[in-house]
Amino acid sequence: MAQNGQSEFPGTRMRRNRSRDWVRRLTRESNVSPDDLIWPAFVQEGQGVRTPVPSMPGVERLSIDLLVNAVGEAKSLGIPAVAVFPVTPQELKTPDGKEAINPDNLVCRTVRSIKEAHDDIGVICDVALDPYTTHGQDGIVRDGEILNDETVEVLCQQAFVQSQAGCDVIAPSDMMDGRIGAIRKALDAEGLDHISLLAYSAKYASAFYGPFRDAVGSAQSLGTADKRTYQMDPANTEEALREVALDVAEGADMVMVKPGMPYLDIVRRVKESFGLPTFAYQVSGEYAMLRGAGDRGWLDWEKVILESILCFKRAGANGVLTYAAPEIAKLLAT
Ligand code: PBG
Repeated sequence: MAQNGQSEFPGTRMRRNRSRDWVRRLTRESNVSPDDLIWPAFVQEGQGVRTPVPSMPGVERLSIDLLVNAVGEAKSLGIPAVAVFPVTPQELKTPDGKEAINPDNLVCRTVRSIKEAHDDIGVICDVALDPYTTHGQDGIVRDGEILNDETVEVLCQQAFVQSQAGCDVIAPSDMMDGRIGAIRKALDAEGLDHISLLAYSAKYASAFYGPFRDAVGSAQSLGTADKRTYQMDPANTEEALREVALDVAEGADMVMVKPGMPYLDIVRRVKESFGLPTFAYQVSGEYAMLRGAGDRGWLDWEKVILESILCFKRAGANGVLTYAAPEIAKLLAT
């Protein structure tokens, strides 16, 4: 007897369930739909401008007007939500990143414009200071140390201005301790209890973020420094579960694991342990790998990008943040 009381070969022939398209579809455990996609998009200053990101072929930084149109397309393709990342002009960056709390900063203006044009697509805003700091760290630095509690205070204000601008979800990506609870409290105190929190709970200190840092211009600010005093050690699993447990206790509505594909074991354990909506971020480096190989003819881009999303689903993710979201939605529509 094989497992589950199944008879052995030749009584059991596994290939029967794979023999025709209809039976493969009938027995398939996971599926990909546009509902699984969150589109992270880069916004820059200007009018009618699009600037390619060299390390992410096919990805462009768009000015607000063009992004609003692109979000309209994403919506009509059935994509439920977009995550907005600002490319802050160098002259607005400071050591304390105070542009993050300017209610008229690029990201707030973008959110307002998107919401004016389209009211039924979710808008997610990242909370972290790295787009705004001259040193490229996600927090306030004193004597070479990333300060936790002082940073959390600023993150609460950042979450407030973004929420006031009309975003639906605040997604803290900074990995400071206690920020989920602090942000929840700060938003609730301002009557913003309808804003959801998507916690980047298990965010690793990963070299797969390289192209993103090119795209938002934090790579040059960061130089040779790293984020290992706050982002997680790629070696650890148990720590990820503790991070998620804390964020859930502090009020996270949804959690995220990041990067995605190299960390599917974490996605699976988080989903099984907590059962709450769990997202994975197919980060810039993952996109660049698949895209770069596709562009060289080494991989079939369309097939591998769809397969990659299916793998996230199989691992237990409810959805995936992917730069390829609009392309994937188009592929699914054909
Ligand atoms: C900033 C932030 C990063 C990403 C999302 N938010 C970069 C970092 O932590 O350095 C990375 C996304 C990607 O690589 O696609 N806190």
